[in-house]
Amino acid sequence: MVGAKGRGSNMAALAAACAAPEYPAFIKIVVAPKADVPAVDAADAFGLPVATVSPGDGFATRLVDALSGCTWICLAGFTRLLPEEVLEKFPSRILNIHPALLPKFGGKGMYGHHVHDAVIAAGEPESGCSVHLVNERYDEGTVLLQLKCSVLPDDDSDTLAARVLKLEHVAYPRALAEAILAGRT
Ligand code: GRF
Repeated sequence: MVGAKGRGSNMAALAAACAAPEYPAFIKIVVAPKADVPAVDAADAFGLPVATVSPGDGFATRLVDALSGCTWICLAGFTRLLPEEVLEKFPSRILNIHPALLPKFGGKGMYGHHVHDAVIAAGEPESGCSVHLVNERYDEGTVLLQLKCSVLPDDDSDTLAARVLKLEHVAYPRALAEAILAGRT
């Protein structure tokens, strides 16, 4: 599931991984809030089916319908809390990727450059990304995998975000495959 503001680069990383014959998953559907978002262009480039589910009346039911037949859900740039109906339908099978080392630098409002600005302002020597299970609170589910990188003295949020994003593209397909193969329920 992608959001309106993302580039779709993590979705593309998952799609590229899924294209390998030995990878233990395939993408059944990319769910986007509307059709004219960059992540949908990225999905189209991979020839993936896309469903648009806009927020508003009946959002939870429409989302559950769009996700029917899916086993795992990966949030990639999706910034809303998920409706309870979706969380209940996919217990411990919804993953998200966050561009920092949780539990630090997570929570409501911690997305995009806000995260990297906070990491730099705190003087952290390291940052990275976290793949975690999704629950009813922002960025608080069990962390499955983290990859780390240095924060350099002359970093700004752009340079740090770019370094972390490279790690995200490795971490997300790896964490999903590990979770599937571990038979998480
Ligand atoms: C990534 O930085 C991810 O960690 C966060 O949202 C961003 C989405 O980027 N959850 P992209 O759309 O996958 O390029």
